[in-house]
Amino acid sequence: MEYLPIKNKAVQETFIFNFTVCISNLFGDYNNVLQFAQTMEMYKLLGVQHVVIYKTGCGPDLKKLLKHYETEGILEIVPWPIDQFLNPASGWNIKHHKGDIQYYGQLVTLNECIYRHMYQSKYVLLNDIDEIIMPYKHTSLPSLMEDLQSAHPNIGVFLIENHIFPKTQSEESGKFKRAEWNNIPGVNIMEHIYREPSRKNIYNPTKMIVNPRKVQQTIVHVRVPLQRRLTKEQLFVDKRVWDFEQELIQNVDQTLKRSGFLKASS
Ligand SMILES: *[C@@H]1O[C@H](CO)[C@@H](O)[C@H](O)[C@H]1NC(C)=O
Repeated sequence: MEYLPIKNKAVQETFIFNFTVCISNLFGDYNNVLQFAQTMEMYKLLGVQHVVIYKTGCGPDLKKLLKHYETEGILEIVPWPIDQFLNPASGWNIKHHKGDIQYYGQLVTLNECIYRHMYQSKYVLLNDIDEIIMPYKHTSLPSLMEDLQSAHPNIGVFLIENHIFPKTQSEESGKFKRAEWNNIPGVNIMEHIYREPSRKNIYNPTKMIVNPRKVQQTIVHVRVPLQRRLTKEQLFVDKRVWDFEQELIQNVDQTLKRSGFLKASS
């Protein structure tokens, strides 16, 4: 018999991190470097100190960028080679994607992430690699959560509505088509300011900000299909990310230089 000690016994009131983002299950040959750099730099501006990725696999360029963020210290990679042991389903819906375990074991990794950070992080954000939990009335996550938590002192899970910015619709002026990003693989989120409208009687899928000390388990989250075939006129213009333009571009470029995607002089 092997015993594992319970190490979470001492209740703590101070934490190494205030905001940790858990990104479950990076797999396949995902190589979206530009969007990931922009997203990470956006998180930092919003007050995130720690990002955790459960990694099954990714493309070669993204691997290089992950290495950079790991060295920088903000990123923790948890190896998750689930495909070497099981045949994981490649989608979240078990009706359509067969396998030994649902969607690369996403629920296992999300639960693991919550428990791992129970006494390390005041809050844990559960979202995907292509999503940003973005405050609109507040300038950062700390001020958002200060307001939310004082209005709802006993609440441990805050649901954040998910809104899609289709990458098929771009902003016309091209002001953020920057020359230095031309050869960086991936999506430039600053060009995609058109947001799908909310639909009457349809519940938007949600992501979460949780107090990890108040959560026992995450559960399966079934998602409605996305809206297809909307024209630009049917979408809302949402330039929230542009509010961070100056710092964001500067920081993304600095990251691309330090991680070797751009020459230091360019
Ligand atoms: C977390 O927030 C508290 C209160 O605002 C602050 O004093 C502390 O420096 C923050 N910790 C980190 C790691 O940013």
